[in-house]
Amino acid sequence: MKKVKVGFLGSGFIASVHGSILQEDERVEITGVADIVLDNARKLADSLEGNVQAVETLEELIALGVDTVYVTTPNTTHVGPVVKCLEADLNVFSEKPMAVTEEGAERIREAAKGSKGVYNLGMNRRYASTHKKVKEWIEGGALNPHLGQFKLNRGELLKPAWTADSNKTGGFLYETTIHQIDLLPYFFGPVKTIRCEARQNISDNEFDDFAVLVTFENGGIATLVSSAHSGWSFPFETIEIYGKYSTATTAELETVRLSPGLKQQMIAEDYTQVPFYEKGGYVEEDRLFIDALINNTAPPVDVEDAYQLTMLINAIYESAGTGEEIDFASRIKALKKA
Ligand SMILES: NC(=O)c1ccc[n+]([C@@H]2O[C@H](COP(=O)([O-])OP(=O)(O)OC[C@H]3O[C@@H](n4cnc5c(N)ncnc54)[C@H](O)[C@@H]3O)[C@@H](O)[C@H]2O)c1
Repeated sequence: MKKVKVGFLGSGFIASVHGSILQEDERVEITGVADIVLDNARKLADSLEGNVQAVETLEELIALGVDTVYVTTPNTTHVGPVVKCLEADLNVFSEKPMAVTEEGAERIREAAKGSKGVYNLGMNRRYASTHKKVKEWIEGGALNPHLGQFKLNRGELLKPAWTADSNKTGGFLYETTIHQIDLLPYFFGPVKTIRCEARQNISDNEFDDFAVLVTFENGGIATLVSSAHSGWSFPFETIEIYGKYSTATTAELETVRLSPGLKQQMIAEDYTQVPFYEKGGYVEEDRLFIDALINNTAPPVDVEDAYQLTMLINAIYESAGTGEEIDFASRIKALKKA
């Protein structure tokens, strides 16, 4: 069997997560690791099984003969290398965010159109055990989502220090809230309108408190609250979705409950003891990506999906700035016509 030859660009925390998962997949050979800090590349390469080379640049990584690159560098450094890889007809798994501007996302979208390589954005929350249950209940008809209440907070933007620098993160929504924003259309379907109020309360360079009101084309409504300075008061990540006499509730990526109807028994699942890589959705997103490469099927979060997520985040920032409601559905229609 011809193996998928994977290289990593960026060898920090998330590269080690994907590396540990992929080395267990017999369809994959991890060929090399590149990092501007060669010592970091060496550390990750040494921790992985097999003959994994450590290099400094993307060019050296490509020269090792990889056919697939995981781009796992900081947020604002994704676009250039992703475009370069796609132009070289390599497959790309990009960590979030796709880009931190629509222009950046557009460059990737254009590069993907002309490439034989496959693009995928890593949105692991879709495959988190808790969230898969909610999706299953919605798709199976046990829960028809009418109203949702989403929350994703951070305790602080102090550790590491760069999380407070929007030039490095692209902004708090791109750094943290992106995970919950992606789940809005994932659970409710296409977004119709966006309205956001945001404040700069603690941060000295960006909005750090958000209250977002979202309507959906199916008539659903959801609110999303996201604070960057809540002091690690748990649970900091929750979803509640209300259907007809029914509610699905998640707390962190640990527990999920469904109250399916009046006078019915609740269903509750607890993933506390499931390993982090698995309950966090990382194992499944990697498997689905490699499946797509081997079977020539669509990747889990393709370039259009990723592009629309970037548009959605931009629309939230735009509404925060102008105070206006945004007709997001019209933007998507215009995009499809273009
Ligand atoms: N999906 C998730 O749950 C999740 C979790 C953590 C991080 N992430 C994303 O993964 C990316 C990396 O985050 P991390 O926590 O692993 O960061 P990290 O700081 O642990 O690692 C980043 C590595 O990239 C290297 N690097 C920086 N600029 C580079 C460049 N231009 N070329 C090559 N190497 C470069 C650094 O030296 C470092 O070793 C970020 O985009 C982040 O948003 C996603």
